[in-house]
Amino acid sequence: KKQVTILGIETSCDETSAAVLVDGVDLRSHIISSQIKTHQKYGGVVPEIASREHSLHIQPVVEQTLAEAGVGFTDLTAIAVTYGPGLVGSLLVGVSGAKAMAYAAGIPLLGINHLEGHIYANFLEHHDIKFPLAALLVSGGHTHLILFEDHGKYRVLGYTRDDAAGEALDKVARALGLGYPGGPQIQNTSRGGNEQAFKFPRAMLEPGSLDFSFSGMKSAVLNTLNSARMKGETLNVPDLAASFQQAVVDVLVHKALTALEQTGVKTLLLAGGVAANRLLRETLDYELSQRKVRLVYPSPILCTDNGAMIATAGYYHFLEGDFAPWTLNAVPGLNL
Ligand code: KG4
Ligand code: ZN
Repeated sequence: KKQVTILGIETSCDETSAAVLVDGVDLRSHIISSQIKTHQKYGGVVPEIASREHSLHIQPVVEQTLAEAGVGFTDLTAIAVTYGPGLVGSLLVGVSGAKAMAYAAGIPLLGINHLEGHIYANFLEHHDIKFPLAALLVSGGHTHLILFEDHGKYRVLGYTRDDAAGEALDKVARALGLGYPGGPQIQNTSRGGNEQAFKFPRAMLEPGSLDFSFSGMKSAVLNTLNSARMKGETLNVPDLAASFQQAVVDVLVHKALTALEQTGVKTLLLAGGVAANRLLRETLDYELSQRKVRLVYPSPILCTDNGAMIATAGYYHFLEGDFAPWTLNAVPGLNL
């Protein structure tokens, strides 16, 4: 049987990343070129700068990824690329580059939904995942609970009605003066804080609802900060960070447990940048072991944006013969 060698390319936000993956499990090389340092001084990702940086980095990143894997374009079976959701200028750099390379090499192009990519990071590292399963996807732009019957067969159970979990963490971190990206800063700052110091609300919505709402929880922190400022008080930042992190994790865990009760599935996948959060992992680890449900999550480096997850999702699309047309375009608002 011929090997399936996929080059995966990810440029949806502020990481230019590429990976070479053989037969869906053997990661031969993986490079993530992060722009975080460039965007940090602005307190968040500047779209125009992001696309320019991708243009500068995509070719060297791909060349180095192929060189490290010891393969050339002619050894590739297909090229997988993120075509949405994300920043349009950033997506276009990856999509145009992948199209040009695949066309020149005479191999198929695979268009990958970034959200699906996050979930497939789990299949790269864990080779015994059983369907049906639920997935909690928590990133900077999305918060979704999804039921998977099989590869490519899924139904969205709930999603955020306003801010994504990562977005709320980023905004609170910014208000606390912790910088960008906020999630890791909140996690680190929380270590020295008391998570019971502040009673922030937990937005659970209607009983049984699997939707999320983080905007009010975020506002509660901002209001607490503002009223303290007006009174000339200074608040303990680690306490604030720890209390907010606990509130966000409480909601995510409660909703995940509700989804597991409602569906009866015995496996939960965590995915997206916020899936790197230690408190979230540890809390779910404990809660799910009590319920005899298997918890699966990727290594932290595969939780945040990367090319390996796109190559992995690409492998399953390739097996299905699900190729993209040469007219593939960036779809910034693509959903699941
Ligand atoms: O998946 P991702 O890299 O990009 C999107 O597709 O959005 O997720 C980025 C998000 C950011 O909001 C970042 O603050 C958050 O993931 N994040 C974390 C952690 N690492 C990244 N949030 C909480 N704890 C972390 N350790
Ligand atoms: Zn992402």
